[in-house]
Amino acid sequence: MSSLAFDSVPAPVEEAVPAPDSATIRPVPRISIQAFCEGHELAETMEAAAADRRMARAHVKVHMGGIAAATEFYSAAPTPNLILVESRHSGEKLLGELERLAAVCDVGSKVVVVGQTNDVELYRELSRRGVSEYLVNPVGVLHIIRAIVDLYTDPAADPLGRTIAFVGGKGGVGSSTVSHSVAFAIARNFENDVVLADLDLAFGTAGLDFNQDPAQGIAEAIHAPERLDDIFLDRLLARCTDHLSLLAAPATLDRTLDLGETTFEPVIDIARNSVPSLILDLPHLWTGWVRRTLIAADEIVLTVEPDLANLRNAKNLLDLLRQARQHDSPPKLVINKVGMPKRPEIKAEEFAKALEMEPTAIIPFEAHLFGTAANNGQVIAEVDPKSAVTEHFHKIAQSVSGKAEPRRSKRPALSSVLSRLRGKKT
Ligand SMILES: Nc1ncnc2c1ncn2[C@@H]1O[C@H](COP(=O)(O)OP(=O)(O)O)[C@@H](O)[C@H]1O
Ligand SMILES: [Mg+2]
Repeated sequence: MSSLAFDSVPAPVEEAVPAPDSATIRPVPRISIQAFCEGHELAETMEAAAADRRMARAHVKVHMGGIAAATEFYSAAPTPNLILVESRHSGEKLLGELERLAAVCDVGSKVVVVGQTNDVELYRELSRRGVSEYLVNPVGVLHIIRAIVDLYTDPAADPLGRTIAFVGGKGGVGSSTVSHSVAFAIARNFENDVVLADLDLAFGTAGLDFNQDPAQGIAEAIHAPERLDDIFLDRLLARCTDHLSLLAAPATLDRTLDLGETTFEPVIDIARNSVPSLILDLPHLWTGWVRRTLIAADEIVLTVEPDLANLRNAKNLLDLLRQARQHDSPPKLVINKVGMPKRPEIKAEEFAKALEMEPTAIIPFEAHLFGTAANNGQVIAEVDPKSAVTEHFHKIAQSVSGKAEPRRSKRPALSSVLSRLRGKKT
């Protein structure tokens, strides 16, 4: 383990302050928060905080059992964006508890500790170990909300969200289909909030694929940049599932669109400060704004079909992106529609070898499955959750969202409890 037990940027720790002025606290972004309390007092405070208007976008779950219960819980489940744990201990005992918790925390989750002692040395040590904030009991509702907001609005901190751009090697290869299913998988499998932005303004299909026909969407955001803030953005989002919202394309031909290079920048900047994952479904175009959006993305997924034109285009795109993003991880490659009947194909392995990269997924051509999903306004996981294709989308979701495999193999919590009750080893 590195010297930082938790993978987060330690925030400077401050002395406890008087109750904050409620009017000055901004809303909490679209994050998932789970609290593990020791006492009912904190549990009630957390419930009251969860009901506050400033927490309306966040998903909050309150459990009892403190750090030990959290550690047991996350040995089998992905961790949320923020974990708040209460401890009755201080000093070495608290640090020991937190070390065990850190071992089961996924990368990118922040940890806030509520403790009993106002001890500067302890503050420093927790901060050094990557704990984002240490609060001392008793804490009030506004204290908690303010502490959470500060974690995500501190200009020195990283932006909350990562942007994941999806682009195709040609039109029609399935880039949008893949992006919609990956957005769905991040929301469902990791219970993490996702905004899917359909940047194909004239022909985008995200609205169709999620059976949504919102009156407003991304066009409002780019045509009224002066009005754009997180509240305005809220109004443009169409809610698809518990954790997935859509910034839909108008998909009309009323206006022709010659967009400037920076057209989408304001909306992307605002969205990524309010949601952990922002999926950008890009059209197959080569304009100034597409190039710029791709280069600026945190992650890129390049979807191709296994033919010669895709190979040439993929090679050109990868060369350009490698050159422009020398300090970023390379794009993920998805080879789609493999095994289309009667079609001559370049073998997926050869395709990947020619590009000198490992594909993240090789997805078979399945006309019936994909056709049913598209015509029903559903994603593949809804049509056939058990399909091997669904598993591919889960894997892509894992690799682009930072929710990589758990740090140690996570066992089902219940089976481990049962086996201990039976006195057996798992
Ligand atoms: N693996 C697949 N097997 C069969 N059909 C697919 C597959 N992937 C995508 N499709 C279909 O291909 C068509 C084009 O997909 P789309 O996602 O719109 O492509 P793009 O965004 O690259 O232009 C859609 O009708 C979609 O249902
Ligand atoms: Mg598309």
